[in-house]
Amino acid sequence: MRAVTWEKTGAVEVRDVADPRIEEPTDAIIRVTSAAICGSDLHLLSVLGPFMDKGDVLGHETMGIVEEVGSAVQGLKPGDRVVIPFVIACGECFMCERGLQTQCETTQNRDQGTGATLYGYSELYGSVAGGQAQRLRVLRADANAFRVGDELPDDRYLFLSDILPTAWQGVQYANIPDGGSVAVLGLGPVGQFASRIARHLGYEVFGVDLVPERRAMAERHGIETFELDDATAAAIRQRTRGRGPDAVIDAVGLEAHGNPMAGFAQFTTGLLPDRVAQKLAKTVGVDRLAAVMLGIDLVRRGGTLSLSGVYGGVADPMPMMTMFDKQLTLRMGQCNVHSWRDDILPLVEDPTDPLGTEDLVTHRVPLDDAAELYATFRDKEDGCIKVVLQP
Ligand SMILES: NC(=O)c1ccc[n+]([C@@H]2O[C@H](COP(=O)([O-])OP(=O)(O)OC[C@H]3O[C@@H](n4cnc5c(N)ncnc54)[C@H](O)[C@@H]3O)[C@@H](O)[C@H]2O)c1
Ligand SMILES: [Zn+2]
Ligand SMILES: [Zn+2]
Repeated sequence: MRAVTWEKTGAVEVRDVADPRIEEPTDAIIRVTSAAICGSDLHLLSVLGPFMDKGDVLGHETMGIVEEVGSAVQGLKPGDRVVIPFVIACGECFMCERGLQTQCETTQNRDQGTGATLYGYSELYGSVAGGQAQRLRVLRADANAFRVGDELPDDRYLFLSDILPTAWQGVQYANIPDGGSVAVLGLGPVGQFASRIARHLGYEVFGVDLVPERRAMAERHGIETFELDDATAAAIRQRTRGRGPDAVIDAVGLEAHGNPMAGFAQFTTGLLPDRVAQKLAKTVGVDRLAAVMLGIDLVRRGGTLSLSGVYGGVADPMPMMTMFDKQLTLRMGQCNVHSWRDDILPLVEDPTDPLGTEDLVTHRVPLDDAAELYATFRDKEDGCIKVVLQP
């Protein structure tokens, strides 16, 4: 089959790889109908490159049609239309019972000291082949495939795999009081949905990004937006009686614009031999913390900072004095996708499409064009906001 593979830092390819097959009785094989490129995939091309191997199949936002199921799979049959959460969980351990699928004790990667296994996300997360391919092997299929209806287009359902629940969790973790306000930093796909969800739930939302067409998309959905510059924090404070918003959601993550030194460190880390670079990425600060620092500064005293953006590195200097003095709450983590499905499903199936799932994808292309579209998405060229590959 054809699949998008990681070749080296900064480079992906589309090539022929072996078809996946049932390896465990709990597996299923799906024929992929849509697979999106995520901002998280971009980290694999740069700072997380040392944890990838040449030929690894990428992709963790996938949906399709079940083709084959293992002998122990009970809830799925060939022909079912399914969305695949990017997190692989068992559904029955201590963590899963508490809705923390990203910490699943059955699929945790203890050798790496990381949480649950993820599709297409490096040896840090289990080295499982991803879904930017014609077919995907779904692990523990009964617990890790959402069956959906046949009527609505893929775009309504596809984002249940990752960015819709990620945005939903970001808003829940932000703990915004009734009628309160939230600033969303970053208006990429995650920030778009986080702002729309917050607005849908009745909060006042301020969106921040440096890319004009991303601000324009948010404005189409009723979000007040701000350009990223030295005056951003002051402008938002002015809209919140000088206090700052009740919460800030960071939908940017470790590749934030605004810290050239860390950017250089990330770049050079991507070029070092794996062994050295892996150690660097885990032990020294290679994050670009511009967004999180803005969040700490901007959020009102006693407010909450909710990190949806992905962070790595352990030695980043955090302004502990400010965080302590402002009495901040900080919440973060990969998304517990399975936990939010029942909250979101009615919204994506609502005929009025209240979260605008059909107004996010800017580029829809055949799988074979993936390498070019990775670059377009990374460089934010051609108005690119979200790419869907069609195998
Ligand atoms: N927690 C999870 O489970 C989870 C799931 C999916 C994605 N993510 C993470 O969420 C983040 C966003 O993903 P995406 O797909 O929307 O990516 P993206 O790269 O398209 O979006 C990031 C946006 O942030 C903007 N930005 C950069 N620096 C900024 C700054 N200093 N202030 C404000 N905006 C800034 C960029 O212009 C861009 O529009 C990534 O870090 C991704 O890895 C996390
Ligand atoms: Zn993702
Ligand atoms: Zn579990």
